[in-house]
Amino acid sequence: MTSGGGNRVAIDIGTSSIKILQASGTADKPVVTAAGYKDIIGLSGDAVSEALKSLAEEIQVSAKDALISISGPSVIVRFISLPRMDDAALKGAIRYEAEKFIPYNISECIIDFQTLRKDDKDNKLNVLLVAAKKDYVDARIGLIENAGFSVKLIDVDSFALANAFLRNAPSSDPNKSYAVLNIGGAHTNVSILKGELIYFSRDIIMGGNDFTSAISRKLGIGQKEAEAAKIAPPKDKEPEVLECVKTVFNDLLDEIKLSFGYYENQAGKGIDEVYISGGTANIIGLEGIFEESLESKPVLWDPMGFADISSAGVEASFFEKMKNRLCIAAGLLLR
Ligand SMILES: Nc1ncnc2c1ncn2[C@@H]1O[C@H](COP(=O)(O)OP(=O)(O)OP(=O)(O)O)[C@@H](O)[C@H]1O
Ligand SMILES: [Mg+2]
Repeated sequence: MTSGGGNRVAIDIGTSSIKILQASGTADKPVVTAAGYKDIIGLSGDAVSEALKSLAEEIQVSAKDALISISGPSVIVRFISLPRMDDAALKGAIRYEAEKFIPYNISECIIDFQTLRKDDKDNKLNVLLVAAKKDYVDARIGLIENAGFSVKLIDVDSFALANAFLRNAPSSDPNKSYAVLNIGGAHTNVSILKGELIYFSRDIIMGGNDFTSAISRKLGIGQKEAEAAKIAPPKDKEPEVLECVKTVFNDLLDEIKLSFGYYENQAGKGIDEVYISGGTANIIGLEGIFEESLESKPVLWDPMGFADISSAGVEASFFEKMKNRLCIAAGLLLR
């Protein structure tokens, strides 16, 4: 499904924040006409719809067609290899194949798939399979509709991330492997690409919240205070905050390395470059911890490089400040 351009609004609702980009123009060259961000830490259900509605009003969103994305444990993505067959046969086979990979009852899931590559040598089809729990997707749609929008397109975070990355990639050498990480509040989206092709994606259920909780425990303070200490550590508490960041990051990096190892086994080569984004990409000490663990510097990138942002109606500093957090919304505009 593609959005087909036109007046539309990309809405990325994370567990920590809502990010909105309204655009006109085509998917190739979106013209951003409104942009906004709102913190929703601690909110759920109707309060999130309300927050979305008030943010949309505040930044004068006029589009009704919403592009959204889904992520987390209710969304399963698998890259599978099947014998070559025609589209009709594939449609029939996919549900049976999906049952093997999905830990939920298939009748409770929405299934979608896309053929990625036809491998003539092995007579195989490489297929991307997505299964999402219906109740989760329905709740997401309800949340968006309650705020006055209609859902025109549903993407998956890690695909939107990969699309935004590819459009802004400094280079996409077909022989290079890129890991693109979006470290948010509750999740870390991982997408691995070889050249321009996506080979692997996964959501690790870890993110900024885990850092906040560790700081809260270590310093014996509440979540709100710990959140503030994480973002701007008080001088006398800096060593403790850094220690928490390092411990949690190493756990997260262990998970990330598992994904890298899986890719390396499948592709026969390792990751060449790591790109990061998400609110937690701003965390104190990140670069050093990354470098020590992965032996390469993570690259921060600008997901808005492709778009015309001159009519966005926000201060120029908005995009600079928010660039780490706009990657999913940016990727949605490209569909
Ligand atoms: N300067 C900063 N230093 C450290 N952490 C930060 C900073 N700014 C934001 N964060 C953290 O980033 C996280 C939010 O990032 P983001 O907006 O990308 O998440 P989200 O999309 O709402 O979450 P998710 O997609 O995981 O549900 C929060 O945990 C927040 O504390
Ligand atoms: Mg997010």
